[in-house]
Amino acid sequence: MAPQPLIIDCDPGIDDAIAILLALASPELDVLAITTVAGNAPLANTTANGLRVLDLVGRSDLLLAAGAERPLVRVPGDDSSETHGETGLDGSNLPAPSRMAAGEHAVDLIARLALERPGEVTLAAVGPLTNVALLAALRPDAFAALRRIVVMGGASNGGNMSPYAEFNIWFDPEAAERVLQAGQDLTLVGLDVTRQAILTSVDIDALEQLPTIGPAVAGMLRFYMRKHVDWYGEEIVYQHDSLAIAHLIDPTILGLVHCHVEVDTGVGPARGSTLVDRLSVFGGGANAHWAESVAAERFRALLLGRLGELAARLS
Ligand code: RIB
Ligand code: CA
Repeated sequence: MAPQPLIIDCDPGIDDAIAILLALASPELDVLAITTVAGNAPLANTTANGLRVLDLVGRSDLLLAAGAERPLVRVPGDDSSETHGETGLDGSNLPAPSRMAAGEHAVDLIARLALERPGEVTLAAVGPLTNVALLAALRPDAFAALRRIVVMGGASNGGNMSPYAEFNIWFDPEAAERVLQAGQDLTLVGLDVTRQAILTSVDIDALEQLPTIGPAVAGMLRFYMRKHVDWYGEEIVYQHDSLAIAHLIDPTILGLVHCHVEVDTGVGPARGSTLVDRLSVFGGGANAHWAESVAAERFRALLLGRLGELAARLS
């Protein structure tokens, strides 16, 4: 089977970085480009971090373009450096990028690649959906030309920014709602399943032994784990973004339901909440495939195995 052409829109961010490595390690995927958005860190940082990760694996040839530096409407008062550190990739100890991002805006790059191969290119969006919403608004032809969109986002069983709000949706709820209304083949991989997609400290110890990528991967995961210990009291690390990528590699890793999903774009305490209408109470037609279940052990084995193969290939 030919590799799936893929664009990853992201906000590196430690789990974004691991997701990029997983995608680049996987023969099932043909990563055409990386695009960046503000989220885990300011756009300048998420962009530099994307370039740093590509340098780590010798892919300074791969297109990377920067996108939106702020959400569509409101800038949240969130200090996400709490999670990924001041750089957005703390613990990686990666050098400064070897190059600048492409001069093209992320939205223009996604549009160009989608129209070059109509119906073939998948977009994995693992940060706030600002770029994706702008694509839908500014380039509906290109948005419709995408094969599908897989989003890491949402929560129906406990959020991480409020009881029902997950960070990527919460950071730009208007963008998320615009994408949900835009009629694409949309899959949402939310916290309901990504909280089962974990690595342990034993896994990190093993990853640290990998040639080339081991120290950087282990360093950033250990930084991320310290946050998980603070919040959840457990020595685990959620691999939110990698699970969305793993679904593209092995679709059977996730169990999906097709239903109506909406986002609260109000300004109250529920802002950014995901309303997953499994029972069609709203009556609105199904607009997304919502991830309900995950083969967590198969995910963990896939991620660890692919990172090991990537390291071996590079050494
Ligand atoms: O809620 C988890 C999501 O928010 C992940 O994409 C993580 O990188 C952060 O962006
Ligand atoms: Ca992310």
